[in-house]
Amino acid sequence: MRRICMLGTGLIGMFYTKALQEHRGRDKVTVAYSRSIERARKFAGEWAIPRATDNLEEAVAGSDSDVVMVGLPNYLHEAAVTAAARTGKAVLCTKPLGRNAEEARRMLDVVEKAGVFHAYLEDLVYTPKTLKALQAVRAGALGKVLWVRSRETHPGPHSDWFWNQELSGGGAIIDMGCHCIEIARNFIGKDIRPVEVSCWADTQVHPIEAEDHAVGLVKYENGAVGQFEVSWAFRGGMDLRDEVAGTEGTIWLNHWLRTGMEMFTAVGQGGYVAEKAEGSTGWLFPVGDEPSALGYTDMFADVLDALDTGRTPMETFYDGYVVNAIIDAAYRAAKSRRWEPVQLDLWRGRVGVPNVAALRDYDQDHYLIKEEKMPDGVAKLILRNKTTGQVIERRAT
Ligand SMILES: NC(=O)c1ccc[n+]([C@@H]2O[C@H](COP(=O)([O-])OP(=O)(O)OC[C@H]3O[C@@H](n4cnc5c(N)ncnc54)[C@H](O)[C@@H]3O)[C@@H](O)[C@H]2O)c1
Repeated sequence: MRRICMLGTGLIGMFYTKALQEHRGRDKVTVAYSRSIERARKFAGEWAIPRATDNLEEAVAGSDSDVVMVGLPNYLHEAAVTAAARTGKAVLCTKPLGRNAEEARRMLDVVEKAGVFHAYLEDLVYTPKTLKALQAVRAGALGKVLWVRSRETHPGPHSDWFWNQELSGGGAIIDMGCHCIEIARNFIGKDIRPVEVSCWADTQVHPIEAEDHAVGLVKYENGAVGQFEVSWAFRGGMDLRDEVAGTEGTIWLNHWLRTGMEMFTAVGQGGYVAEKAEGSTGWLFPVGDEPSALGYTDMFADVLDALDTGRTPMETFYDGYVVNAIIDAAYRAAKSRRWEPVQLDLWRGRVGVPNVAALRDYDQDHYLIKEEKMPDGVAKLILRNKTTGQVIERRAT
């Protein structure tokens, strides 16, 4: 059993605690920290947490926990991680790791110098569908991964600090692009270096300085591309979708608005439907088990098992740092309107990875470009001569 000090009792503190303590979980939240003691006590009461405090140093220092989970607003991550690392306890931090790569790098250094276990709590790479899809991709079902499209859009976040660029580090890109970027990295290969980013970002709806819409392309050394699409102004709930395109196959994932449960009610059920749902009557898309569908359950199984057995979890602070570096490049690209390099002063993956472009031999003299069965039953082959480069068409019945 792991005893957890939960820093933050907002939305993510609630989801983390729910994921840890529901279903007769063996890990327990033993300390709840909030900046207001009333809120800390209320949260502790709701989740049967023995200790509540509004003092962060005291929260992390007690002998009643061996893991510290950071679920505070982005501008507080670094200070919380630093305080937690000093205690020698395992440090787990929510996304985004930092407001920028510089901050994330300092946080990585802090935990590595302290020699403590660390994990980056990127839940969306752990959704049951994503884990299944990753297994298929790693088994070669899609051939070479060429393009990963990841989308997270909803009508905007639920607390004031998200909307303040200084406190959050940006807008929809830092808030949700971080998920999309890490999902793509997982499918493309986390050992493949992200090299450059192009990005469109704009503030189309809200009276804020940060972007509420963005689309970006992240190019990897092997030629693969990760595409992120984020919005804080999407109407209709929370749209979480991923697509993986490979040389031999395709995967489409829909995590939230079409999970298999669709319900119509003219009168409503008197409460919450699903995260970021906009209505409670009409056609609704409830989610059976939200912590599981969002990946929290499998995430904690991986992270806490890793801690118990002394292995590295799927996502570490190093991954958080790489994600922040990609986001920094996206912000630069949105401003410059050019492809901007991803500046990574610390790269731990492979180098010199060849391009994914695949040449398929047809025969001694030709490469196969395309093969298609036509409506008249004829199989058409498009071939390219290996020496002359000439493209020809052949038909076979
Ligand atoms: N899918 C995910 O992984 C996911 C989802 C939501 C939020 N998050 C992340 O979790 C973090 C918190 O987000 P949230 O949605 O829970 O926010 P929230 O606003 O719901 O809760 C934030 C918590 O921090 C506390 N807090 C705010 N300002 C503080 C201060 N100055 N000092 C001490 N405590 C303070 C609040 O009282 C509250 O307990 C953010 O980094 C966010 O990006 C992750």
